[in-house]
Amino acid sequence: MDDAVFNEENGQLTIPTDRSLIQLNEICRTYDVGTDPQPVLHQVSLSVTRGQSCAIVGSSGSGKSTLLNIIGLLDQPTSGHILLDGQDITHASPEARAITRNQTIGFVFQSFNLLPRLSALDNVALPLLYRGYERQAARRAAQREIERVGLAKRAHYIPADLSGGQRQRVAIARALIGKPALLLADEPTGNLDSGTAKEILSLLLSLNREQGVTLVVVTHDERMAQQMQRCLRVEDGRLHES
Ligand SMILES: Nc1ncnc2c1ncn2[C@@H]1O[C@H](COP(=O)(O)OP(=O)(O)OP(=O)(O)O)[C@@H](O)[C@H]1O
Ligand SMILES: [Mg+2]
Repeated sequence: MDDAVFNEENGQLTIPTDRSLIQLNEICRTYDVGTDPQPVLHQVSLSVTRGQSCAIVGSSGSGKSTLLNIIGLLDQPTSGHILLDGQDITHASPEARAITRNQTIGFVFQSFNLLPRLSALDNVALPLLYRGYERQAARRAAQREIERVGLAKRAHYIPADLSGGQRQRVAIARALIGKPALLLADEPTGNLDSGTAKEILSLLLSLNREQGVTLVVVTHDERMAQQMQRCLRVEDGRLHES
C-alpha cells in the first residue's frame, strides 16, 4: 500500500496495480427475489490489461450481462471490489461512477439503443453534448466517427431508415466518440444475419488492433469468441478461462 495515492477531489484511494485496466477482486452478485436471494456471480476475479480483447461466453441466464454491467459500472456487486485503471470505484458516488463511465467506457448493446428521432450523426454526437461540447463541435467529431465506421453517406438518416448492421455501426461510433479506453459490447451481433455479424466483428477487431481499444464482448457466437485473445466462460456463477 506504500504507493497508494489519496485523491482529495473524489475521496478515492488509488492503488497502483499491474497495468490492469479492469480488475475484479472476488466479485459476488446476488439478486434479492422475494425472500429468496439468488446468487448469480460467486467470487469472480479477473484482470484485463489495456489493449486486450476478451469474449465472455456462457449459457443463457449464466450471468454474462450481469458481469458486463458490473464492469461497465451500470450495476454494483453485492461484495468484492472493482478497480478501473487502478482506481477502486466499488463504493464511489453515483456521480463519480457516471464521470468514469462517460470518460472511460463505451457501450454497445444487442438492440442498438439509438434514439429514433435523431439522425445517425446526432445519435453519435450525443455523448459529447452530455460532456458539454458545443453542438457544432460535437457534430464535427461525430462526422469523423461516422466516417470511421464507413457510414459517411448515411449520416443524416434516422435509425428506421438504416439496416441492422448500419444501426450497429452507428451505435459503435457513438460508443467510440468519447475516446474510451474500454469498449463493452453485449451480444453486438445478436440481431444481425451472419454476413453482417462478420462485418461488425471485423470492425470491432480493427478498433482493437489499430487503436488499442480494450474490448470485452459478450457473445453466443463461437466464431466471434475464437477471434478474441481471451475467452472467459461464466458457468455456475464462476468464471473460467479457456
Ligand atoms: N434485476 C434482476 N433481478 C433478479 N434477477 C435477475 C435480474 N437480472 C438478472 N437476473 C437473473 O440473473 C441471472 C443472470 O442474468 P443475466 O442477464 O446476467 O444472464 P445472461 O448470461 O446475460 O443471459 P442471456 O444469454 O440470456 O442474455 C438470470 O437467472 C436472471 O434471471
Ligand atoms: Mg445477457
